Amino acid sequence: MLPAYLPNPVAALTGGGTPVDFGRNYADGRRIFGDGKTWRGLIVGILAGVGIGTIQILAAGAYGISFLPGLTLLSVILLATGALLGDIVKSFFKRRCGVERGARWPIADQYDLLAGSFLLLLIFDPAWLFSEVTLPAFVIILILTPILHRVVNIIGFAIKVKEVPW
Ligand code: CTP
Ligand code: MG
Repeated sequence: MLPAYLPNPVAALTGGGTPVDFGRNYADGRRIFGDGKTWRGLIVGILAGVGIGTIQILAAGAYGISFLPGLTLLSVILLATGALLGDIVKSFFKRRCGVERGARWPIADQYDLLAGSFLLLLIFDPAWLFSEVTLPAFVIILILTPILHRVVNIIGFAIKVKEVPW
């Protein structure tokens, strides 16, 4: 799951500059996505996810690792892209509900990356999804994701990369 997990923290580390919505508002007068979603964060985050996934593919080949899901270039791209697309779609609905940028929005904040990655896999590579992500693996992912999300955000807050510990 590293290709899906890495893009968010990398976006937080490298983000800034032009917002994805170019500062524009939606029909309701609120921002489309808000200043927390930038092009730099999006692009560098996705590249980081694809990069770590490529290293995992090479490492699995070099060391004959067969007990982990066999990543492919396509699955890695879908995991990384879906993670940050899910994050952006989440922010769209967060703004529509009048929740400010950076404010806490439980469940959606923790599961947006999974919803995005699994939806892209379901659409573009369902064969990989159903053969590699077994039910026990899926359950572990569901439990592990919010825990990792919390731990990484507390670290991000402590090292002053994030303004809030969530
Ligand atoms: N970030 C970015 N570009 C993205 C995603 C994240 O630049 N596509 C950066 C922003 O600096 C953002 C930080 O990572 O503030 C943390 O991301 P996140 O918690 O998802 O954003 P929030 O600021 O909480 O905004 P929102 O309320 O819209 O989720
Ligand atoms: Mg946030």
